[in-house]
Amino acid sequence: MSKESRPLVLKVDTERPEIDKIRIAADVIRKGGLVAFPTETVYGLGADALNSEAVASIFRAKNRPADNPIIVHVADREEVYKLTKDIPVMAEELMDFFWPGPLTLVLKKSEIVPYVTTGSLETVALRMPDHRVPLALIAESGVPIAAPSANPAGKPSPTNARHVVEDLGSKVDIILDGGPTRVGVESTVLDLTASKPKILRPGGITAEELVDVLGAIDVAGMKIETEVALSPGMKHKHYAPSSDMIVVEGEDFDVLTRKVQELADEHRLEGKRVGIMATSESPRYDADIVKVAGSRADLRTVARNLFEILRGFDEAKVDMIIAEGVETKGIGLAIMDRLERAAGYRILRV
Ligand code: TXA
Ligand code: MG
Repeated sequence: MSKESRPLVLKVDTERPEIDKIRIAADVIRKGGLVAFPTETVYGLGADALNSEAVASIFRAKNRPADNPIIVHVADREEVYKLTKDIPVMAEELMDFFWPGPLTLVLKKSEIVPYVTTGSLETVALRMPDHRVPLALIAESGVPIAAPSANPAGKPSPTNARHVVEDLGSKVDIILDGGPTRVGVESTVLDLTASKPKILRPGGITAEELVDVLGAIDVAGMKIETEVALSPGMKHKHYAPSSDMIVVEGEDFDVLTRKVQELADEHRLEGKRVGIMATSESPRYDADIVKVAGSRADLRTVARNLFEILRGFDEAKVDMIIAEGVETKGIGLAIMDRLERAAGYRILRV
């Protein structure tokens, strides 16, 4: 399939996806092509998960290291039993409770899942997205769809179709445009293959929500240094804008915001163009660009805007991004994980 021209961008109704458009995209999937589509979290870059060649082309398009496995998306619980073996009872409970939704479960893979998809692992990550477009696309394709976030490896994930066109436009066959995504950060990845469930990546379903259903869990997501081997994707650089970035963290919001302004002043004195990622509770900052991500009182708003804001700073060509940290409670854990990675762990605690 020729991918050198501009991709076909099809606007889809997220409430009632037009079947003719879904069929065009499903046809591309069945023929081994690449379709970018919205989910509730971020846009995905999808291919037939059982077709090694097609999945290999995802890795090429993203320039993704071959040892970083890809999440397989399903539209039907029955698919789970074909793609996995030895499913623990806990997985059934979690699927009952959180699917469709931003929770990815790592389970033992069955023979039919190719090693290209799992980055040579014996496990497979599965999720059922809470979005009618991918659910219709998977159903119409008749195959599970492997889909990482539709960004080049290392860059912030796309939360609207324009991001995908800019990043991977020449490398995909079709982009289904369902507007901006609702959650804004990726799914929570939960490993159920060890003796104790373990969060490999914090995301749209919070640790607290999982604890309510499961009891105790390990949260490895924030300790990348010591947990490298466990989630193949976590050792790679992630979500990074082109500019330098620093995250300011601290309990006392007044102290924190004073530090943010102080840092901005210092860098501007050095002649740098400075962008600040603020919240609606912040004081009026003095910088080259100030972007308000959302409200500390409802961190879901910050999650939704996070990647768009990081990209916006790149477009505005700032030299330095200074971001306010947030509480690591609820969705705040996923936000801080993404911010810290985006900053390459350049963190200032006050
Ligand atoms: O919300 C999401 O999860 C989005 C949408 C498109 O569904 N997808 C996404 O995929 O974020 P990706 O490839 O960008 O991130 C998948 C993460 C990576 O950190 C990867 O290493 C981990 O899941 N992963 C995938 N399969 C795994 C496995 N078998 N064992 C451990 N980690 C796995
Ligand atoms: Mg990704």
